[in-house]
Amino acid sequence: MTDERRLFGESPARDDRFQVKERWAEMRNIPEGDPLATQEFLHRQMNEEVNSIEISARNLVDFPNAPWELRMAMARQCWDESRHVDAFRRLFEKRGGRVGEFPVLNFQYRIVTNLPSLAGRLTVQNRSFEAAGIDAILDGIATYGKAHQADFVELFDAQLADEVQHVRYANDWVKRLAQEGGPRVTFEIARSVAQADAALKIVAGGALTTYPVADDIRKEAGFTDEEIVSVRTLVQRD
Ligand SMILES: [Fe+2]
Ligand SMILES: [Fe+2]
Repeated sequence: MTDERRLFGESPARDDRFQVKERWAEMRNIPEGDPLATQEFLHRQMNEEVNSIEISARNLVDFPNAPWELRMAMARQCWDESRHVDAFRRLFEKRGGRVGEFPVLNFQYRIVTNLPSLAGRLTVQNRSFEAAGIDAILDGIATYGKAHQADFVELFDAQLADEVQHVRYANDWVKRLAQEGGPRVTFEIARSVAQADAALKIVAGGALTTYPVADDIRKEAGFTDEEIVSVRTLVQRD
């Protein structure tokens, strides 16, 4: 319990339409191939996009003295993520879904906003969670493209362009913050990654999903060749 308090911050507010869960195993995990699995995915993803808005918004509030261009990038991210929420909700409701129909997880918000430094938060949220999201989106485009689901592919294409930008600005700024802040910032980043890794394992409980690492897009998002190789090694190890 003590450990968990150290790894997770407070939950974001949700109105009473939502059933909030803390662990992957408590979610409604529907077998792939069942039509409801797609609905559950859209609903879960919609809420994760809300988490992304909330994290960027909290960064703006918690780090008022961050450089202006970085604050602008985080504000733009809030706008982009709000479009993603709308897009997922539209598709979910068009297919007969009702908001609140499935449980949701807010682990991203609880893990990231608990980190004390902006460099640490951008590393975990944008360079890790969102970069893994890019790999997942590409996988989704391939799967749904094959199934001729044009509305899904359209949504993923639009989302992908934004997510690449979110990862890219974080790559630029984390490097700048580390250069300017010296070893203290570098240490803070390493500590944040370790902390998030431990927290994620608690949430996932051995059910962590990874997707093939998308080289070209990751390069476009500002990762170096060495960084891509090390992510692939990590993914394969897990
Ligand atoms: Fe997003
Ligand atoms: Fe994003």
